[in-house]
Amino acid sequence: AQVELEVDSVLTGEEEDESLLLSMSSSSNKLQTREGWWTTFVLYHGCCMDRQAATSVSLARAQFVPRDDDALLATYPKCGTTWLKALAFAVANRFRHRVIVDGAGAGAGDHPLLTQSPHDLVPFIELPFRHNHPVAALDAIPSPRLLGTHMPHHLLPPRANELGCRIVYLCREPKDVVVSTWHFMNKVIDGFSIDFDKAFELFVDGCSPFGPIWNHCLGYWNKHVEELDRIIFLKYDDMMADPAGHVKKLAEFLRVPFTDDEVDAGVVEEVVRLCSFAKLSRLPVNSSGVVDRSSGRPMENSVFFRKGEVGDWKDYLTEEMAKKLDAVIEEKLKGSGLTF
Ligand code: A3P
Repeated sequence: AQVELEVDSVLTGEEEDESLLLSMSSSSNKLQTREGWWTTFVLYHGCCMDRQAATSVSLARAQFVPRDDDALLATYPKCGTTWLKALAFAVANRFRHRVIVDGAGAGAGDHPLLTQSPHDLVPFIELPFRHNHPVAALDAIPSPRLLGTHMPHHLLPPRANELGCRIVYLCREPKDVVVSTWHFMNKVIDGFSIDFDKAFELFVDGCSPFGPIWNHCLGYWNKHVEELDRIIFLKYDDMMADPAGHVKKLAEFLRVPFTDDEVDAGVVEEVVRLCSFAKLSRLPVNSSGVVDRSSGRPMENSVFFRKGEVGDWKDYLTEEMAKKLDAVIEEKLKGSGLTF
């Protein structure tokens, strides 16, 4: 039997200590477990994840020291994290790293996004094997920091909310998320063997990395509604429809709004172009680069780029499957004001 904790349940210090210990021990059977996508998943304070992720989250909660001027880029996995990291980095650092150099745009000059993965420019707070990558690495980043996380809102390090850290949340149409997740796991997990239909059933049942997806979205959505100025809520599909509008919105939220001169000079469009799927996915660093971000598990950066399209689910879900997932999402989000 699984135990669903309230999305916003308050975690006491005692619980946290216990969870840290439990998730650190791979032989522990005290956490609720479920059949997962490639290994057994645990329910860590109501959030589904593999044990390694639970360990990472525990360590991040215990060790990460937030600053009041941190901006957290929070996403459910496969909702466009890589894109959001690139956009936020380009926007926030455009005075140091210009996107238009000598009249030329994306691709000119030595912008860091041309040679480094967005995941290395905006690191995750929780990393697999974070114990081998001390959080001191995050402490060394000068303020104001841009940091990524897949943690649900109720598992964010408590001080982050107390200090009023700003949060950019990005979600995506769940049908596209399940397709993207299945492809991603196929690429990165050795011996991954479940077919798409099985993965879909697990996803609909609330079992997916950092799932259920509806709890993840609702946790941030509810906080966004309470604190509109502190938490901005974005959707991948809307960003695809109007990237320039979202880049401006992002810049305002990050307190670096575009000036009229910048808009006239086309800086917004150049940020969009620099961070576009077409541009980023073809750069050598992202098409053939390999980075070991978690001690001993080198990963090809190309795994973060597949199609980058809205509505790709139509090639994978039958009408019946689509209706089933839509119905679950509608039911779970009922009354919240959030829709996909
Ligand atoms: P698809 O698998 O549907 O193609 P994440 O970055 O959260 O892991 O999400 C990965 C998804 O975002 C993948 O979706 C990937 O192709 C897409 N993506 C990556 N970079 C992108 C970009 N610059 N613009 C739009 N989508 C992008």
